[in-house]
Amino acid sequence: MSGGHSTYEPKTGITRWIDQRLPLPRLMYDSFVAYPVPRNLNYAYTFGGILTIMLVAQILTGIVLAMHYTAHVDLAFNSVEKIMRDVNSGWLLRYLHANGASFFFIAVYIHIFRGLYYGSYKAPREMLWILGCIIYLLMMATGFMGYVLPWGQMSFWGATVITGFFTAIPLVGDWIQQLLLGGFAVDNPTLNRFFSLHYLLPFMIAGVVVLHVWALHVTGQTNPTGIEVKSKTDTVPFTPHATAKDMFAMVVFLAVFAYFVFYIPNYLGHPDNYTEANPLKTPAHIVPEWYYLPFYAILRAITFSIGPIDSKLGGVLAMFGSILVLFFVPWLDTSKVRSAVYRPWYKLFFWLFVADAIFLGWLGAKPAEGAYVAMAQIGTFYYFAFFIIIMPVLGLIETPKRLPNSITEAVLEKNKGGEAAAQPATSTASPETRG
Ligand code: HEM
Repeated sequence: MSGGHSTYEPKTGITRWIDQRLPLPRLMYDSFVAYPVPRNLNYAYTFGGILTIMLVAQILTGIVLAMHYTAHVDLAFNSVEKIMRDVNSGWLLRYLHANGASFFFIAVYIHIFRGLYYGSYKAPREMLWILGCIIYLLMMATGFMGYVLPWGQMSFWGATVITGFFTAIPLVGDWIQQLLLGGFAVDNPTLNRFFSLHYLLPFMIAGVVVLHVWALHVTGQTNPTGIEVKSKTDTVPFTPHATAKDMFAMVVFLAVFAYFVFYIPNYLGHPDNYTEANPLKTPAHIVPEWYYLPFYAILRAITFSIGPIDSKLGGVLAMFGSILVLFFVPWLDTSKVRSAVYRPWYKLFFWLFVADAIFLGWLGAKPAEGAYVAMAQIGTFYYFAFFIIIMPVLGLIETPKRLPNSITEAVLEKNKGGEAAAQPATSTASPETRG
């Protein structure tokens, strides 16, 4: 995946033999050992690696769970209880998988926010960003379908509500809903197709991740300064530098994950999902998993019609729009400077956006009534304003801070600490994103 000159030298007869026939070890060596990475990467850059191991863990635990799970409306709930009680270490597998989904989303949200902060989506990394957005969409679909499989009350009613959104689409809406359900209501055909797709999609995610990492290795990584690598001194080899940092971050992340799995395994779940699905009994509040809550708040914030668009269709369009807008970020951000480190105003609006996303998440779990609706409308307004108004306008009017000439210079300046701050600027280089 690395585009540059290979420095791999097979050391044994066997590795030489393999290298001449299928140079896979060479590819791995060039991509993950000798590959040059910026020397100033911080811990925010370790989440791509964390995501990779979480994906592998989800696939492995999922495959074993599927050996014991039965995708039938009469048996699904009990088969999950059997996994919890009778299957050897079944409880562990299930808790790893269920909490693993949540931790996968925690990691992906940090990864996306890191991208937004450091302007990782800017040219020439648009494709890398778009592939990430596709992965995110696939993750959302996978998580939703997985949640239906235990066939609890929230599984059933969540699926009923979400597939119901599609009926808001004019002309083809009912047809799409029936296609998803395999009938007119959530039932056995729905459970079967969701199981089938829940098994398939993670492999599609893995495929897109390969493209994602390929695109990354074509452009190279950004770094907190946003300045491109200019010379050899700006980089260090991936191994041992990035591998050691990535592995340390993984251990810390997995320790927190283990705390949830072993001490509070049901903290992120909903108690109603320990009651078997009952189509005749609607729960008082239907709430999706925590990682969908901001989008759920946006959906319910649209309580008014806009011209011919009624509130239901408006809510569905706003919800899908809030994800689709991510695809256009590389073109919405007009700033010539990549990293928020040198953009004081963008930094402020970015942190407000993070707070807004958390606020919307909190509102998504509240009933859609009274003051909560008004708050969700304000939160939704800021969400879209950040992308559609602030990003394009701010890029044109903001005066960025002086950029260092190179990554090395930035590192040396930082290491000098307070001394550097007192020094006059060595350069007044015009704001730029590329070296
Ligand atoms: C299964 C999910 C994903 C995996 C396994 C993954 C993997 C990775 C890896 C290994 C890296 C390099 C290390 C790093 O910068 O952290 C990376 C970088 C990147 N990813 Fe992802 N990623 C995933 C999802 C996403 C999503 C959802 C987005 C955006 C919507 C995204 C956008 C990016 C961008 C823009 C970079 C380049 C960062 C930079 O150099 O500044 N990724 N990804």
